Amino acid sequence: MTTSQDHRITINTPDDGLIELVFGEASPEQRVECFKQAGRTFVRSVPEDQWVAAEKQLEQLPLLRGKGCRHWCLYKPDAPKEIVSSLRAIRREVLIRDERGVRQETGYDIAMVATDAKYRGHGLASFLTRKVGEWADGPGAAPVTTLYTAVGPFYVKLGWELLPAPQVSCELPPGVSLDALQRKRGGNQLLPTRLAGPDEMPDLCNRDIAQLRTRVEAYDLAPNTSLVTTLPIPEQLEWYQEMAKLQSLTWCNGREIKAVGAICEEADTWILWYQDLSHKELKIVRVKPGYGNPDLTKQALVQLLSRAMEEAVSWEGLLAKIMIWDPSSEVLGALEMLGKEMGFTPKSEMRDGVNQTSIRWAKADKRQTIFWPNEYYACN
Ligand SMILES: CC(C)(COP(=O)(O)OP(=O)(O)OC[C@H]1O[C@@H](n2cnc3c(N)ncnc32)[C@H](O)[C@@H]1OP(=O)(O)O)[C@@H](O)C(=O)NCCC(=O)NCCS
Repeated sequence: MTTSQDHRITINTPDDGLIELVFGEASPEQRVECFKQAGRTFVRSVPEDQWVAAEKQLEQLPLLRGKGCRHWCLYKPDAPKEIVSSLRAIRREVLIRDERGVRQETGYDIAMVATDAKYRGHGLASFLTRKVGEWADGPGAAPVTTLYTAVGPFYVKLGWELLPAPQVSCELPPGVSLDALQRKRGGNQLLPTRLAGPDEMPDLCNRDIAQLRTRVEAYDLAPNTSLVTTLPIPEQLEWYQEMAKLQSLTWCNGREIKAVGAICEEADTWILWYQDLSHKELKIVRVKPGYGNPDLTKQALVQLLSRAMEEAVSWEGLLAKIMIWDPSSEVLGALEMLGKEMGFTPKSEMRDGVNQTSIRWAKADKRQTIFWPNEYYACN
């Protein structure tokens, strides 16, 4: 039996009998317990103290600082550090186009939703998520909340809608060498490319955003449809840079991250990446196309994705795959061409049951929604 009233919920468990839990935004002490709960639920490969230290470091980033990252939890009133269920929400700068025009607002992305195994199935995560939805609709003033989830149907019941979540990936071909990749790339003098260092990232993001706004305004949107764009603000991409640094400390003796992407100025096209060592994937977090000439963009992407492959190979077995979310036809075409030359077959699929994109409009308003671009930089 479960009963709930305002900020409290009572559950009846076989082991502990009736337990009352309180909903609230986590205090600084409770945040640490929320980190621990997220760690033991999602990241068992990293020791708890290391995970907590990493989370504390991430909290200092401009994206999360102040109220940029909020944790909510259900805890025992007589032992507030005993967190039973928790989640976190990180702000997102979004561009929305609907019948009211185009506007920039602040939404949230929810992640790390967890209930301790002992207390699952009593409606706690539902209660917690619903309460956070109420906050988002009220004081949070969030027009949209997003989620990337492994348990999509669970959130649909709570007002979220699942959206298409395509991705393409390719394994590094066996025996591929830096030399061979560099030689192949050196053959193309028409579209020179170069690596982008961490210092360039803010400028690239700002250039990207300026062009995205125009694209959002020009998007051929069907009637009664709303368009949502998570803006690739520098703070958002910086979060991934910091994650890569932390992972490098854990898995690669703190090897310096020298390149965050690659750029082809001639084609006004670039890609940004994140060395996700924990999943052994080089994630292409953003593909910024040149908007005028799809063929030029595709040719540039062949070179840029070859650069990505070089980056992955340079991690000497620690990165085995390249992953791209929401690939455009130019990305798919470029990967196809590169695959033919290098001997790999790109794998296109939908993310069913893992990192599935979902969205909740304020007050669970149901809308026909285009979420574009739906690339990795917007996740978590
Ligand atoms: C998912 C989770 C947060 C649910 O917590 P909970 O407090 O037990 O949730 P509730 O009791 O409110 O709801 C349970 C519902 O979740 C559903 N659920 C749990 N795990 C699920 C899964 N892997 N896939 C689909 N649904 C799932 C249950 O079927 C149940 O549905 P019902 O209400 O129709 O019976 C919890 O199982 C958990 O911590 N899992 C591990 C972490 C995780 O996967 N988090 C979600 C990441 S986005």
